[in-house]
Amino acid sequence: MKKRVAIFISGGGSNMVRLVEDMQSGDHPAEPVLVLANDAEAGGLKKAADMGVATAVVDHRPFKGDREAFQKALQAELDRVQPDILCLAGFMRVLTESFVAPWEGRMLNIHPSLLPKYKGLHTHARALEAGDAEHGCTVHLVTPALDDGPMLGQARVPVLDGDTPDALAARVLTQEHKLYPAVLRRFAAGDTSFLEL
Ligand code: GRF
Repeated sequence: MKKRVAIFISGGGSNMVRLVEDMQSGDHPAEPVLVLANDAEAGGLKKAADMGVATAVVDHRPFKGDREAFQKALQAELDRVQPDILCLAGFMRVLTESFVAPWEGRMLNIHPSLLPKYKGLHTHARALEAGDAEHGCTVHLVTPALDDGPMLGQARVPVLDGDTPDALAARVLTQEHKLYPAVLRRFAAGDTSFLEL
């Protein structure tokens, strides 16, 4: 039986597209069953629908900061499709322990830095400010501590003279699009060993 995968996005969903494309490319141990966004304007929703994947929207704004109620609504959408694995792909809402705990060990996230460096936001500007020679991205298991769970894979890129945060972000994103599908394919097959691209 293929593993059922749900994907949470907040924006354009370029990582989501790569995950779905790889799962639809044949001989993959998993299949996409839902793409959910917390914003009906998220560009990735149409991309997912165009690839034949069911979509849903749970907008966080009507919950006016009530995270527990928002998370219950997220879980209700997941209960409808019964996924085995949950992938966060550019999902910009912080999930608290009450949501994360039941999913621990089967919820993945991609973060645009070489964790444990630069947890949180603005990772590219921070790497440039620090004068780092290399930067990259990490796929990790999600735990209640932000950007802190066990790492499943990393990909590195050089930081080049004259790099701007946008230029560095674009170079990292190219690696994200290779790393996340590779890690999900291994993870869905039961392989949680660390992958260095
Ligand atoms: C990616 O850089 C991801 O690492 C970060 O948000 C960005 C989202 O990109 N969390 P996309 O929505 O997958 O194109």
